[in-house]
Amino acid sequence: MPADSIIAGLDIGTSTVCAVIGEYNENGSIEIIGVGKCPSQGLRRGVVINIESTLKTVRTAIEDAEQMAGREVSGVFTGIAGGHIDGINSRGVVAVTGKGREITKEDVDRVIDAAKAIVIPMDREVLHVIPQEFIVDEQGGIKNPIDMIGIRLEAEVHIITGSATAAQNLIKCVNRAGFRVNDIVLESLASSRAVLTEDEKELGVLLVDLGGGTTDVLVHIDGSPYHTNVISLGGGR
Ligand SMILES: Nc1ncnc2c1ncn2[C@@H]1O[C@H](COP(=O)(O)OP(=O)(O)OP(=O)(O)O)[C@@H](O)[C@H]1O
Ligand SMILES: [Mg+2]
Repeated sequence: MPADSIIAGLDIGTSTVCAVIGEYNENGSIEIIGVGKCPSQGLRRGVVINIESTLKTVRTAIEDAEQMAGREVSGVFTGIAGGHIDGINSRGVVAVTGKGREITKEDVDRVIDAAKAIVIPMDREVLHVIPQEFIVDEQGGIKNPIDMIGIRLEAEVHIITGSATAAQNLIKCVNRAGFRVNDIVLESLASSRAVLTEDEKELGVLLVDLGGGTTDVLVHIDGSPYHTNVISLGGGR
């Protein structure tokens, strides 16, 4: 079986570090085949403050998951949280220039680029840019504008940013534990994909993850994230 038939996730929490290994079945959905947990050390309010302690817990959690799965992983998707996380809504606009004014994938990429062209401080990095809706010639509420005909294409997006150094320290811990980071995912966004239904997101829902060191908040409206916040206060000390 090819190595990429498995996927691994890592949640470096303030209280617990969790690793999970999933395997794609023939329907394309993921079956969990390994789980590893380790009491966390080296974090404060969701942010790594001690590389050495954190990397040991990361290694233990992933190795436990590998043992249960009977498979080894090289790369993991890692969650990020902490009071430095911020979410803002932004809007971009472009003219549709193609033949017959038919909106193409390139137009969509261009309008998302325009929407994310915001000034962020040097010490922050963009973690996610999530389209909320597209507006074609003032007609809003469009989820997929590709192939529609229009002159003016607008996009509203939710941009999630975080401290660049907090992300680098997270990656460093995982790398020094012996694993590659495939990507970083905002914890509350990952939780929302796991626990919320499409209907809930469409109707509007507030997700609250009460952790040991942080309380993560994410609001979905009309199927997309509109508000993100991480409060540096959890159930622990
Ligand atoms: N049954 C329970 N009732 C109340 N509180 C609980 C219960 N079980 C766990 N907790 C509390 O939940 C917190 C741990 O939550 P969780 O494992 O989600 O945190 P974490 O992901 O490690 O931390 P964070 O996401 O904040 O970095 C601890 O403060 C713990 O005391
Ligand atoms: Mg957590």
